[in-house]
Amino acid sequence: MKKRNFIYDRLSSRIASEERGKVQREAERMRQEFTANVSHELKTPLQSISGYAELLKSGMVKEEDVQQFAERIYSESQRMITLVNDILELSHLDEGMGDMVREDVDLYEVAIAAVDSLKEEARSANVSLELTGEKSVINGYSQLLSLIVYNLCENGIKYNNPRGSVKVDINDFNDRAVLTVNDNGIGIPLDQQDRIFERFYRVDKSHSKEVGGTGLGLSIVKHATAIHNGEIHLVSVLKYGTTITITFPKEGHH
Ligand SMILES: Nc1ncnc2c1ncn2[C@@H]1O[C@H](COP(=O)(O)OP(=O)(O)OP(=O)(O)O)[C@@H](O)[C@H]1O
Ligand SMILES: [Mg+2]
Repeated sequence: MKKRNFIYDRLSSRIASEERGKVQREAERMRQEFTANVSHELKTPLQSISGYAELLKSGMVKEEDVQQFAERIYSESQRMITLVNDILELSHLDEGMGDMVREDVDLYEVAIAAVDSLKEEARSANVSLELTGEKSVINGYSQLLSLIVYNLCENGIKYNNPRGSVKVDINDFNDRAVLTVNDNGIGIPLDQQDRIFERFYRVDKSHSKEVGGTGLGLSIVKHATAIHNGEIHLVSVLKYGTTITITFPKEGHH
């Protein structure tokens, strides 16, 4: 729910008209891709909820198994709630697209806000979260840039170990701004590194289920980066951690 508030906080201004078409087309594409996947994702937990409930109803479940069946129904329905919340969040983001303005945005300011809003999450996971770097201004959509930094940091915290760390760094160059989010967490298996940017894709379902999420974060990062003509670079080693670097060209240089 925190994530949703964060997005709402940042969806407020107006967009220059020549940019509007491009952003809306991208939003439309995201929406279509999304609805194709979403019905499938909702169907699976619903089918197992229905199956477990039917068995319970039939009275064929042994007394000692009832608790376990109820637990499954509970966790599957929790999964659906998370999913529906993410869907709502995305549709609000789509609506908000039309109101956004392309403006000069200091990536460092964006990172300060994202790190600040994740303080609590980091503290309760016992993961340190620190920001270094410098002011670096690009022309873009602050709402989308916030989502990028926020989602990367959130992942660094979630897919980490107690006493782990997440380091966010902003570097300024003549022609580009570079965001780096590094963690020393669980890492991503090499053969799945391409897939994590797909909608709903999650590595190791069991661990992912524990920490919660729907597998949408990085697909949002990917689209939001594309809108800024940015490039994503991922280096991850299983059990050692992950570094994601995003390079944003400054205006006039691309
Ligand atoms: N920093 C990371 N370290 C290890 N694994 C990661 C990291 N970032 C992402 N992953 C893996 O990639 C998957 C996809 O990430 P993504 O952010 O898209 O979804 P999510 O975190 O599962 O859910 P959501 O972001 O929608 O709440 C995650 O489920 C996780 O398995
Ligand atoms: Mg995520």
